[in-house]
Amino acid sequence: MAIANKHHPLLLAVVVVALSLAAAAAAATLAGLRHRSPVRMRLYMHDVIGGPEQTAIRLIWGVGPPHKSMPGRTFGDTVAVDDLVTEGPSIGSPAVGRAQGTYMLSSQREAVLVVDITVAITSGAYNGSTIVVAGRDRVRDETRELAVVGGTGALREAAGYVLWRTAKVWSEIHMTLELDVHASVPAPADDAVATE
Ligand SMILES: *[C@@H]1O[C@H](CO)[C@@H](O)[C@H](O)[C@H]1NC(C)=O
Repeated sequence: MAIANKHHPLLLAVVVVALSLAAAAAAATLAGLRHRSPVRMRLYMHDVIGGPEQTAIRLIWGVGPPHKSMPGRTFGDTVAVDDLVTEGPSIGSPAVGRAQGTYMLSSQREAVLVVDITVAITSGAYNGSTIVVAGRDRVRDETRELAVVGGTGALREAAGYVLWRTAKVWSEIHMTLELDVHASVPAPADDAVATE
């Protein structure tokens, strides 16, 4: 720095400006982090693929080539879901919403689904809001990580991740998934009351 000062005053000025910009960017990042509120939820989603209480239907089935690691399945198999979401793992636990969307068998070789669901929340602090979850579900892994890619209402601009687990296989047609949601939403601005 001393050398730069003596021989290259312009270089010193450039360094000072660059450092100031870096400091400003770091402060903005910290402010951005401070101004998000955490969203933590643990939800249970009931996939019922048959019987009178069915909530998941096969849309595309057996069209693609036979699957390499899931006998009886074919690449591209797709299910539409309108699953009940409850507070606890039992289907009799209080309802908190519906998980609506699709699963597609998206790997030709591995047991991997790509999931795209929106959870419409119907009780509690986020009643009337939705949270959008998407990602890769490697079904034989104990815990899978999917992304929280957005939301609406009180969950607008939600971002984060979901730890996704098969919580319980109750029968051939009923399986419960646990969605452990770790996300955040922008916090209301400190001066929101003053300016509105
Ligand atoms: C959720 O919101 C709807 C619409 O405002 C309302 O009718 C319903 O009672 C609320 N449910 C709960 C459990 O708070």
